[in-house]
Amino acid sequence: MVSERIEKLINEQIAKEQFAAQYYLAMSAYFETLDLVGLAHYFRIQCKEELMHADKMFDYLNDVGGAVILQAIPAPEQNFTDVEDVFAKALAHEKEVTKSIVTIAKAAAEECDFATSSFLQWFINEQVEEEASASLYLNKIKMVKDNPSAMYLLDQELAQRVLTTDTGSQA
Ligand code: FEO
Repeated sequence: MVSERIEKLINEQIAKEQFAAQYYLAMSAYFETLDLVGLAHYFRIQCKEELMHADKMFDYLNDVGGAVILQAIPAPEQNFTDVEDVFAKALAHEKEVTKSIVTIAKAAAEECDFATSSFLQWFINEQVEEEASASLYLNKIKMVKDNPSAMYLLDQELAQRVLTTDTGSQA
């Protein structure tokens, strides 16, 4: 049985993952307005990944006897200034998510909750990838933002992104 403290933190994390999905969907909508359909696709996939992260937390909490308490999801910001602004905000957001996951991991370690520690390892690894990917594309955007031909090619590159469904779940 998971402790009330860990249960609360995981419920909060479910809401944070769902908010991240909304935020990335807002970014996708912004790129649709610019007809940058590859970038829009990239963030649409990112939105779906975040929903999978929320699902993974949802399933874990049920598996360990906790109660899932769903929360209101705030409306995301939608006033982006340009392409670089979006990618900078995506990277900043991933860094916040990493901090949040680490907070739960610390709590689990303090409580000798080895099951939750083990569960969170997947998320800790995932955040390394998430931050690396956001940082990589922010730097690429900085390189191409003033060159329409290069931006066109980057848009095509990002249109190739495929949803990764492996979340490490045993079920
Ligand atoms: Fe669920 Fe992008 O972290």
